[in-house]
Amino acid sequence: MLIPEEKLEARIKEIGRKISEDYAGREILIVCVLRGGVFFACELAKHITVPVRMDFMSVSSYEDGTESLGRVKILKDLDENLEGRDVLIVEDIVDSGNTLHKLMRVLEVRRPASLKLCTMLDKPERRTVEIPVDYTCFEIPDAFVVGYGLDYAQKYRNLPYIGVLDLGEGI
Ligand code: IMP
Ligand code: MG
Repeated sequence: MLIPEEKLEARIKEIGRKISEDYAGREILIVCVLRGGVFFACELAKHITVPVRMDFMSVSSYEDGTESLGRVKILKDLDENLEGRDVLIVEDIVDSGNTLHKLMRVLEVRRPASLKLCTMLDKPERRTVEIPVDYTCFEIPDAFVVGYGLDYAQKYRNLPYIGVLDLGEGI
C-alpha cells in the first residue's frame, strides 16, 4: 500500500476546497478522462461547492511516434460544448505527460474560457513533455501503481487505496 484510502480522500477533500475557492462565482465543467479518472473525479466533485457539470472523454495516444504533436485518437468524445466554459481536466495520473499534452491542445481549439488540469497522482521523474499541472493530490516515485481507478490490464481499479503493483506473486 502506498496511499491509504483515508489519506487519499482527506487530500481530495482539501483539493476540492481549494478548487471551490479558485472558481468562486463560476461553474466548472469537469472533463473526466476515462477510465482511470472516474473514481477520483466522482470523489473530487463531491467536495466542490460551486456548480459542476461532468463530462467524459476517452483518448489514446498514437504509438508509432511519427504523429505530429497535438494529435490524439479520440475513442469517446465529449457531449458538452466547451466554448466559453471553465474546463477542468481530471486525470488519474500524469506520467510522461504525452497524453495530456495532446489532449490539452485538442481541447484548447474548442475555445474554453479557461482550461486547467487536476491530477490525483503525478510521477514527475517520468516527465518527457512539460505540461502545466494546476492541482495535484500526491507526487509519487517512479513505480507502477494501481487502485482508485488505476488498472493493470483492466484489473485492480476497484481497490479503495493506491497500491504499488507487485508482479512477483498473486496476480
Ligand atoms: P502519459 O501520457 O505517459 O502521461 O500516460 C499517462 C497514462 O498512462 C495515465 O493516464 C494512465 O492511464 C497510464 N499510467 C501511467 N502510469 C501508470 C501507473 O503507474 N499505473 C496505471 N496506469 C498508469
Ligand atoms: Mg489515464
